[in-house]
Amino acid sequence: MTEKVPEGHPEIDWSKWEPAGEGDVRSPCPMINALANHHILPHSGHGITKEIAVSALTSALNLSPTVATVFAAVAVTANPDKSAHYFDLNQVNKHGLIEHDVSLSRNDFLLGDNHTFNQGIFDVVMEAYGTDEKTSFESASKARYGRLAAAKKAHEEVGKDFQYGIKEFVLSYGESALLLGLLGDPKEGKIPVEFLRVLFEEERVPFKEGWRKSEKEITQGDMNHLIFKLVEANEHKAAEAKDVGFGTVHAVTTAVTGLLPTYCTIM
Ligand code: HEM
Repeated sequence: MTEKVPEGHPEIDWSKWEPAGEGDVRSPCPMINALANHHILPHSGHGITKEIAVSALTSALNLSPTVATVFAAVAVTANPDKSAHYFDLNQVNKHGLIEHDVSLSRNDFLLGDNHTFNQGIFDVVMEAYGTDEKTSFESASKARYGRLAAAKKAHEEVGKDFQYGIKEFVLSYGESALLLGLLGDPKEGKIPVEFLRVLFEEERVPFKEGWRKSEKEITQGDMNHLIFKLVEANEHKAAEAKDVGFGTVHAVTTAVTGLLPTYCTIM
């Protein structure tokens, strides 16, 4: 079960998969956990340099080096040792850096465990897909917005501060866009719903179920397209734009286009 990868990279054997063992660490991100489970990132979850992360994301997923570098560079800053040039997967749990409220599969920071996969939260999110076999911009957007509304309500009920501004907005939409783009289809946003379950519930890349790396590199432009489509498909986009401090949907989307490429500098 191997796949050709660009020259200079070893071939990937996607059948190689084992969950974290004793002493191994994992993150709140289903994809980097899956890559560690597949031994594409260090299985221990320790000592991941920017170069290791970029090489894994570009060779295994065909994510553009520019987008991969943004995530990898920010992740390294999560290491509390400021002279270190690497991160451990559990360090990116740092709240407010990449980790944020409104995760699709984790609880929020002030409400409980913001790190570990939460089946109850994920099951509610997945209800948005109903019996659909494939995702659409509409269903993926409904899933994301439903989680936002539920998280906001849960904070209000216990009188805790809910953190959801433009940065969280960009990350939240960006993560949904990554899912659609890298698990399947950067143009139409259609991926088998089963792929989502495998990635989140098992922290495994659904190669066995038919996933194949995109032949075309997934670029910043693809990400912007996916985010715009998701925003467009959100029935509550005007209310959400207001919530994050922008008056109009147009202002939000303009901000997202401007922010994503230079995201490193604002985190
Ligand atoms: C070095 C690269 C990466 C780092 C350091 C990273 C880190 C993170 C972190 C810290 C979170 C938690 C955010 C939250 O609180 O919800 C997260 C979530 C997420 N990441 Fe990654 N990530 C990386 C790459 C990727 C890639 C390539 C994908 C592609 C599918 C991806 C997909 C996701 C998704 C879908 C979530 C949302 C999980 C949820 O809402 O429960 N990530 N990532």
